[in-house]
Amino acid sequence: MMTMAIEQVDLFSPAFKANPYPTYSWLRENGPVYRATLPDGQTMWVVTRYADVVAVFKDERFVKDFRNAMTSAQIEELSLPIHSREFRLLTGHMLSSDPADHTRLRALVSKGFTPRRIEQLRPRIQQVADDLLAALQERGEMDLIADFAFPLPMIVISELLGIPEADHDQFRDWSSTIINHLGSGPLDPETMAAAQAFGTYLQQLARARRAAPTDDLISALVATEGQGDQLNEDELLAMLFLLIVAGHETTVNLIGNGVLALLQHPDQLAKLRQEPALIAGAIEEFLRYDGSVETSTFRYAREDIEFRGQHITKGERVLVVIAAADHDPEQFAQPEDLDIMRAINRHVAFGQGIHYCLGAPLARLEGQIAINTLLRRLPTLRLAVDDKLLHWRPGLLMRGLYALPVAYDVA
Ligand code: HEM
Repeated sequence: MMTMAIEQVDLFSPAFKANPYPTYSWLRENGPVYRATLPDGQTMWVVTRYADVVAVFKDERFVKDFRNAMTSAQIEELSLPIHSREFRLLTGHMLSSDPADHTRLRALVSKGFTPRRIEQLRPRIQQVADDLLAALQERGEMDLIADFAFPLPMIVISELLGIPEADHDQFRDWSSTIINHLGSGPLDPETMAAAQAFGTYLQQLARARRAAPTDDLISALVATEGQGDQLNEDELLAMLFLLIVAGHETTVNLIGNGVLALLQHPDQLAKLRQEPALIAGAIEEFLRYDGSVETSTFRYAREDIEFRGQHITKGERVLVVIAAADHDPEQFAQPEDLDIMRAINRHVAFGQGIHYCLGAPLARLEGQIAINTLLRRLPTLRLAVDDKLLHWRPGLLMRGLYALPVAYDVA
């Protein structure tokens, strides 16, 4: 167990980001409901034990829309541009809404993401994985993130929604700018500029589909706009924004973190190579061991709440740390070990409660196909750099690498 004082906990340093698990272990033991200060001086409650994380996810007093929790004075203090179009794009979606808005927004798209519907995408996802790797096979090396883990989910979610392929790189820039800055302070001009460009692009796309519908999800959503106030234009754009960002940033890192974990654990890699049918359990273990969503998005106390001996005041922010919960020894045997055959694995990588990840079936299928295809086509896959030289992207929300250089023999 590391020795440190609670005021030394720094959730924003690169050293923490390189390996946050010792700090999370310390917090679970010494400050399971811990009041942390953000770089902008504001505070939040950080929850790290598994049982507490599940309790917060399921407790309706912790809401997602800050306007349902804060007093007008508290909202004013945030000095957020809440009436701007960009702010509505970033926050006007189901993940930042409470019932009844949340229920209505989620119902509009939930049918498109059921395990059965997603299973129908299997042949297409397999083809995308094969095409990407066929083009890389003769190179002998690649950046697994940029060359494989990023394009695969981006192509899949874009085809589902109906976004032209030529625009994918542009999307990556906008969404990583926004993701890198979320949760680490006020909205800075760079984030606002990216949100503005993203919003304008989505608006033009929605207009094009209104004029000439196709069979994609954007056309289906646009068609609900006129039906009894089901969806207004701001909500439509925020929904598309959420589906694009959640639909690729997260899965990129499931593939990247999963492959890194395997390359760092040759015994587990050998098992999976020998028995590819273990992939479903292996994906669950990658999600638990080094999942791509490190913390939830903020929740806000709707009222004063006594929680595990702490007094959380109405309007205060609460951050549940998924990565800490998924390494809690009270819940998982040998949590620091990677075990693709782990028998009991009730991880919270996809959250819990009403905001449980809509895209979980899609993420699982993409992860399974991506990693098994990679192992089958590249039997000599190995790290091309010392793993201590890998850089993790900043920000609390996501856990993902900037790049993962790998090498393999050319057949
Ligand atoms: C490995 C990949 C993924 C992980 C680890 C992940 C994780 C999560 C988590 C933890 C939440 C809940 C956050 C909270 O309660 O604060 C969430 C919500 C959500 N996710 Fe995912 N996600 C992944 C992939 C996807 C994909 C591929 C989609 C594509 C559609 C998606 C769409 C959503 C949506 C729409 C929500 C909001 C649900 C709601 O508010 O009701 N996610 N995800």
